[in-house]
Amino acid sequence: MDRGRHWQRLNDQIERLPTLPGVAIRILQAMRRDAPRLGELADIISADAPLSARLLKTVNSPFYGLSTKIASIHQAMIYLGLNAVKNLAMSFSLLDGFARRRSGLFDYAQFSKDSLIGALSAKALTEKINPQLGKEAFILGLLQNIGMPVMAEALPVEYGKAIAAGGGRGLATHAAEHGVLGFNHMDVGRSVTGSWGLPTSISVPIGFHHCPERLAGHSGDLELLTRMLHLSSLFIDMFKHSDPAAGYAAIEECLRAQGLVGVMRPFDLAGQISAQAETLFPMFELQIDLKQHLEIIEAARAELAKLSGDLVVQVHQQARRLDELTHEVGLDPMTRLDNHQRFQEILKQEISRAKRYNTPLSILMADVDRFKAINDFFGHPTGDQVLKRLSAQLRELLRDSDHIARYGGEEFAAILPSTSMQEALRTAERLRRSIESQPIVHEGRTIAVTMSFGVAALENRREIDVQGLVKMADEALYEAKNSGRNRCCAYRDLPPAQAATRHVLVIDDEAIVRVTVSKMLERLGYCVHAVESGSQALEFLKAARERIDLVIMDLVLPDVSADRLLGEIRSLQSSAKVLLSSGYSLMDERRQGLRMLSDGFLQKPYQMADLAQTVRATLNPHAADSGGRRRPGVEGEAVVCVRTPATPPDRNPAAVPAG
Ligand SMILES: [Fe+2]
Repeated sequence: MDRGRHWQRLNDQIERLPTLPGVAIRILQAMRRDAPRLGELADIISADAPLSARLLKTVNSPFYGLSTKIASIHQAMIYLGLNAVKNLAMSFSLLDGFARRRSGLFDYAQFSKDSLIGALSAKALTEKINPQLGKEAFILGLLQNIGMPVMAEALPVEYGKAIAAGGGRGLATHAAEHGVLGFNHMDVGRSVTGSWGLPTSISVPIGFHHCPERLAGHSGDLELLTRMLHLSSLFIDMFKHSDPAAGYAAIEECLRAQGLVGVMRPFDLAGQISAQAETLFPMFELQIDLKQHLEIIEAARAELAKLSGDLVVQVHQQARRLDELTHEVGLDPMTRLDNHQRFQEILKQEISRAKRYNTPLSILMADVDRFKAINDFFGHPTGDQVLKRLSAQLRELLRDSDHIARYGGEEFAAILPSTSMQEALRTAERLRRSIESQPIVHEGRTIAVTMSFGVAALENRREIDVQGLVKMADEALYEAKNSGRNRCCAYRDLPPAQAATRHVLVIDDEAIVRVTVSKMLERLGYCVHAVESGSQALEFLKAARERIDLVIMDLVLPDVSADRLLGEIRSLQSSAKVLLSSGYSLMDERRQGLRMLSDGFLQKPYQMADLAQTVRATLNPHAADSGGRRRPGVEGEAVVCVRTPATPPDRNPAAVPAG
């Protein structure tokens, strides 16, 4: 290959080639002047009668869509602009000249068809972004491959080889041209349009129309025209491609690379170009390959249908994924049960439904007994396995219509739609027994697990909301825990006569004791007053209007001695029961005397269950039996337990510290 020699031979022959008809040369000569007169150019074109007739026919065709009948080239220039008419005239001159030629392997007819498709597509594409550049893009599209016939005329033998190398279909590819000659039709097109005096807005895009990415130092309209010319070259390929779908794919890829997906729809554009070609081709005495065009339109429809199908599938997939994600968000990752938030949402719906249709609704709150001990003894991984096993067991034992959730930590919650309190209690008892009777075996070790259950029902409480119902079940659960565990307790409203609130005064200089004890007693339905010193206690008792039923006082206070305080309490609130509380023993003689004067003693640290039991026993000495069983509806209770377990009270960490 001798690039320099080939290029020299090409340039030597260009001037002698009949590539450019006389009228085109005269137009270009007029154009070389800075400000060509419209009349002069109109005269040049009008002098070629066949050319002007065909040009007027084109200008008046539906392609231009003018509302006025154009009767002269001068009028056409006024309506369409000087440049548009000039370029159109040049195109007619060029294509007419090529159409008459026959030169070896080069297919002039195909070249002319390609040029028109290039012109139509370049115009349509460019107008999508800048309508003002449409007419310029048309002539650019038309001339983009002008280097091909120039090469075929100047170097017929070599170009014949390039055609053969490119597949032998009458026109060479730019890669094959470069392979044989060392340059391609872009290089030649840029050179000849430059030598014809055409502006850089034409020669530069032609010189880079297959490689717009190499265009450096230019921007704005020139860069846009080059990119659109590149896209139009892909439309040319598609319109003669044996596989239109592959052609569409290449166009879509290019649109994607240029960030134009959504701006241009190649299937619509192909239909538009095909329809225009049907009008324009006969003007140039070119036979349109209707079969090929129909295949392209059909491929466009197929691609659109496929795209629509893909979109439908995509939308369905996204919707399914969204459902999965939404479902996942509401799940506890370890147990795969609903989480706390999902439970609240479902409970809100179920409460609303139960109120609307006047149907019963119950909920269970359940807690694994001694779970901390399980974790401490067997390790947290085993603790997790226990929770998973219990989750599966609870899920299996409940109905499909029930909702079970991991409420937090080792606490579970269940919603039982259309279930009365009695039915819910039976369900809870069935769950409790099942769990108690099936020890969990993990890694060869048997772990006995029990659970406590609190049950609450909507019943006639039509005003109750999620928080209210959960609070009721929670209180029942606390009662189950504090009365020995491994039992089921149901929340009951107090009858009016029994609803009188018991008042308890807690005197302790340790804040944590005051807070812990107060909260516990409040949960059990007592009205709690807490003070941090003996003097504050005395002030409170002197000012108190209500009867104080119970005083829980720390034995050692910084300001008032236990003897004096106990005496004052007896004086101010004679019916009040007094429980002493201390980390010290009452075994010495002096303190034994104090114990005799009080109604009971709580040895710190004590468990909450001990506190609850001692308080109840102190206030209702005849209501509680030795096993902690209480009769339904006893005074001061908002909770009823339905079972007494055989297991002894555990050492739950929820305890009052030593002090
Ligand atoms: Fe090209």
